[in-house]
Amino acid sequence: MKNIKFGIIGYGSIGKRHHQRIDETEGAELVAICDNKTEVINSVEKQVFKTTNYQELLDREEIDVICVTSPNGLHYQMTVDALKKGKNVVCEKPMALSVLNCNEMIMTSQRTNKRLFVVKQNRFNPPIKKLKELLDNGVLGKTFMVVVNCFWNRNENYYKNSDWKGTLDLDGGTLFTQFSHFIDLLYYLCGDVISVQALGRNYDHTTTIDFEDTGVVSFELANEAIGTFNYTTCSHQKNMEGSITIFAKNGTIKVGGQYLNTLDYYNIKDTVIEELEQGNPSNDYGFYQGSMSNHDKVIQNVVKTLRGEEIIATSAFEGMKTVQMIEAIYESMRINKKVYIR
Ligand SMILES: NC(=O)c1ccc[n+]([C@@H]2O[C@H](COP(=O)([O-])OP(=O)(O)OC[C@H]3O[C@@H](n4cnc5c(N)ncnc54)[C@H](O)[C@@H]3O)[C@@H](O)[C@H]2O)c1
Repeated sequence: MKNIKFGIIGYGSIGKRHHQRIDETEGAELVAICDNKTEVINSVEKQVFKTTNYQELLDREEIDVICVTSPNGLHYQMTVDALKKGKNVVCEKPMALSVLNCNEMIMTSQRTNKRLFVVKQNRFNPPIKKLKELLDNGVLGKTFMVVVNCFWNRNENYYKNSDWKGTLDLDGGTLFTQFSHFIDLLYYLCGDVISVQALGRNYDHTTTIDFEDTGVVSFELANEAIGTFNYTTCSHQKNMEGSITIFAKNGTIKVGGQYLNTLDYYNIKDTVIEELEQGNPSNDYGFYQGSMSNHDKVIQNVVKTLRGEEIIATSAFEGMKTVQMIEAIYESMRINKKVYIR
């Protein structure tokens, strides 16, 4: 069987992670890399096509899949351009910075008949897979309340070392860059959110970011449950927690750790959870850590989906759902009122 040939646009920390995972995946082959910084492109050792202009990469006939691993605010245009050039696309999270842009990405994917994958690798965390199974099989029963807590640390160096993180146009907000995985999991596990009411403040990053570093959100779900989402990047000196707790008719369960990587608590009627499989470690960026490093599973899913052996792990529609909730939260913060998502 022929290899699926990949090109990467944006060769920063996560672009390099895609490179590594493509190299490790059977049936995947990296053939081109683009980064607009000449020094970045000159530092690439691998013998592949290299360019600082992503349009040149899209013109390469041999490429089947483009990984869009550039700053958030560039995902939309690069994805649409790649789809129009007949490429399948793996778009890093967040899919885009507005629902309007997400919708155009989805429509372009449909009109060009090319696949659009969105990266949401935390869905592969073993405790999340278990929680999803318990919810889908009805073991937990009706959900009453969901509590999502994200208490991380992002210090001055994190923002000073980046020319886009913390900016409104290219980053978009703390929910887009730091916590979109948690919002995706809320949707993945519990379904649609139908209203949000939120408060946001910038307490400790006034010189480094254009938006809030702390937020509290209350929400209602279509399944009649209610919940809260509390987040901050001000946790003293280090990440403290990233968790989802569900209170349901037949049980209570908390998936936590710093990155939704451990089963912290459960008490479920007639249920014993056997030891879970070992998960991957988190993405380690040196002086800070990010989400779980499950990009191996993401690239494997791309290859298998394009070969007709699997379905997309996270579709573009699901990618849009995260952006829809984030947009509603920011709107609620702006107008200081409840916002309905219809
Ligand atoms: N899935 C995850 O857990 C995860 C983790 C980290 C980052 N991300 C996402 O990945 C994306 C990249 O994040 P990062 O931390 O690697 O950032 P980064 O700054 O390390 O890398 C971005 C790269 O894109 C390049 N770039 C900027 N404009 C470009 C252009 N016009 N053409 C080509 N290249 C361009 C930059 O030079 C840089 O090398 C972001 O959207 C981020 O939200 C996802």
